[in-house]
Amino acid sequence: MIETSRNSRQVKYAVRDIVLVAQEAQKRGLELRFLNIGDPNKFDHVTPPHLIEAAHRAMLNNQTGYGPSSGTDEAIDAIRQDAQKSGIKNIQDIFVTVGAGEAIEIVLTALLNPEDNILTPSPVYPLYSAVQSKLGVKENTYYLDEKNNWMPDPHDIRKKINDRTKAILIINPNNPTGSVCSREILLEIADIADKHNLLVLCDEVYGKLVYKGCKHIPLASLNDNLPVATFNSLSKAYIAPGFRTGWGIISGSNKKLHNLLEVINQLLRARICSCTPINASVKAALLGPQDHLDRFIDKLEKRKNITVDILNNIEGIHCNEPQAAFYAYPEIDVKDDMAFIRELILNTGVVVVPGSGFGQKPGTSHFRTVYLPPEDTLTEAYNLIGEFMKRWRNRK
Ligand SMILES: Cc1ncc(COP(=O)(O)O)c(C=O)c1O
Repeated sequence: MIETSRNSRQVKYAVRDIVLVAQEAQKRGLELRFLNIGDPNKFDHVTPPHLIEAAHRAMLNNQTGYGPSSGTDEAIDAIRQDAQKSGIKNIQDIFVTVGAGEAIEIVLTALLNPEDNILTPSPVYPLYSAVQSKLGVKENTYYLDEKNNWMPDPHDIRKKINDRTKAILIINPNNPTGSVCSREILLEIADIADKHNLLVLCDEVYGKLVYKGCKHIPLASLNDNLPVATFNSLSKAYIAPGFRTGWGIISGSNKKLHNLLEVINQLLRARICSCTPINASVKAALLGPQDHLDRFIDKLEKRKNITVDILNNIEGIHCNEPQAAFYAYPEIDVKDDMAFIRELILNTGVVVVPGSGFGQKPGTSHFRTVYLPPEDTLTEAYNLIGEFMKRWRNRK
């Protein structure tokens, strides 16, 4: 038998792992309703044509060879302009990657030895847990406060810092909760990071998908000297996850960052480059027309309202109102979320992801729903959840 590596065996990805249960439900003849994957293009959302045209032109112009390891000058310049517009000033480096996912993996790899840790929110987008498992790093979690609309809890962050902590991760807007950090919380986190000499990792892939009355503030825009790695991509706001194109922006004091930048660039060179023709779409996306955004947010806001209204009318479910993105993370009054969701899928065909795939406070249960599907699909799915919950509670 060929032995596999210890670290790889720990890698899990609940969002896709749950599909195995869905396949079982399908074999039973159930119609599946997928509320598990954050891919807008699976539903009635399409990539803005000017992004496609830019990539198409690049391909016809033979820009199909390898490109520079950090991305084309044109893409980097567009990312710089977009970042500066959002208030990020002291930019030290920008690099284009295979989705934000690769930028995240490269920065964590450059930063961490197995004995180190980063403060990771709970719940968290599972890619971070997967990368830390691969690196053999033990996750050091801090809690998001459900009672305070899932804001990071600075008190808990302070408590969890130890002498091997190298960074604080914030996902803002958040997956899986759909919450957006307030300016006060961001300033507090920046202050903690500054005092403890920590890098801040800011995942902002949903930064442009914020609902009316709410504002997304990039943490890096609040402190020019603080070392910050900001991650973003074309996947969500530009409805092009299959383009697999994202980027990292490193900002803050050059004196504190130049070691890290050297190693990040070593890693970037070792994997050659990102997808060259799609680099052309980055400029089209960031500097071209943005009118798809209002339409997309409008649709999402309606679907968010349906989600919150129906779920909060089900006994045994409580759902905080998301302020951005297309996820909600309702609490469910059940003991074992994994068992509940498994039975839910097998009995209704509604596919959501159990909270244990993202993390939650001990003694609580949740699931994540993705409200990208059309309104009638959502209504049917949530009504099925309501009926199932009633049966589940009656048999207790
Ligand atoms: C919070 C968060 N960060 C990063 C990613 C990865 O995005 P990309 O497609 O750019 O790799 C996702 C994808 O769902 C996400 O939700």
